[in-house]
Amino acid sequence: MPKTGQEIYRRNCALCHGADGKLGVSGAKDLSTSPMGLDERINRIAYGKDLMTPFTGLLTDEEIRLVAEYTLTLK
Ligand code: HEC
Repeated sequence: MPKTGQEIYRRNCALCHGADGKLGVSGAKDLSTSPMGLDERINRIAYGKDLMTPFTGLLTDEEIRLVAEYTLTLK
């Protein structure tokens, strides 16, 4: 079941980060201006921080990588 990064993002991330990454619910960082590179994003998504849920176990490694790549396209 090939899910795209965008689908994964809309389903799991947009409620806090917004469709464009800028929403900022519960202190969520603006993903469109985040200086983080791909590896750091993958880590943050896998392990979470503060009010951000860790997605290990909820998403596969492949899905985490796809959604991390998608967040890099948010501008
Ligand atoms: C329950 C709300 C919530 C959800 C759902 C959520 N996040 Fe977050 N996210 C946060 C918060 C809060 C932070 C800030 C954490 C901190 O640095 O203190 C954050 C930070 C981040 C960061 C780090 C940005 C930076 O520059 O520090 C990334 C990347 C990120 N989220 C990606 C995602 C992705 C991708 C998803 C979906 C798989 C997701 N988040 C789902 C709340 C959420």
